[in-house]
Amino acid sequence: MDKPHSPSSDRNREPILAVLRERFADRRRVLEIGSGTGQHAVHFAAALPALTWQCTEREENLPGIRMWLDEAALPNTPAPITLDVNGTWPTARYDAVFSANTLHIMGWPEVERMFAALPAVLDDDATLVIYGPFTMDGRHTSESNAAFDATLRARAPHQGVRDVAAVDALARAIGFAPVENRVMPANNRCLAWRRP
Ligand SMILES: C[S@@+](CC[C@H](N)C(=O)[O-])C[C@H]1O[C@@H](n2cnc3c(N)ncnc32)[C@H](O)[C@@H]1O
Repeated sequence: MDKPHSPSSDRNREPILAVLRERFADRRRVLEIGSGTGQHAVHFAAALPALTWQCTEREENLPGIRMWLDEAALPNTPAPITLDVNGTWPTARYDAVFSANTLHIMGWPEVERMFAALPAVLDDDATLVIYGPFTMDGRHTSESNAAFDATLRARAPHQGVRDVAAVDALARAIGFAPVENRVMPANNRCLAWRRP
């Protein structure tokens, strides 16, 4: 098996890292949901050695992540663990969550399940950072995002670009307050919340 590769991860990792340097400066244990190839994990864990970066993914994607983690051999990336937000969650606790480009791939009920499950794995003062395309007040922020949304929904009707307000409502319902809505390259956003 070849190591999986995501070109978009190569493009967005530096702008995301700039956000994480601020938001995770006082964090120690990050739970990443939907790690994909594992490229983000390797890049962020190498740049932020004070963090322990726990990759998670659906079972079928773990072999690829292991290839990236094994090659990098970082001291702060434990073996990836299986996490489908519909299934069993880890028993460990974390003080931060990161997830990139996952909310538009999950169906909305899965997004709701993800947020509902977070309190059981998070410290009281946890920080949450979510990266991806979002609509603002129900409106796409670019033509390309509108086209991407249409493509997603045509391919898989449960998928689709989510609205910032709807995601924010889920975060607030579990005690998080918004701290950032940063415009990122390629019409993406980094949303961050913190529990006071
Ligand atoms: C577009 S990829 C993003 C991967 C990576 N985070 C990135 O930014 O390159 C979306 C990921 O969400 C994961 N995903 C989709 N549904 C999920 C679910 N129900 N539970 C956990 N992960 C899920 C997929 O396995 C996939 O790797």
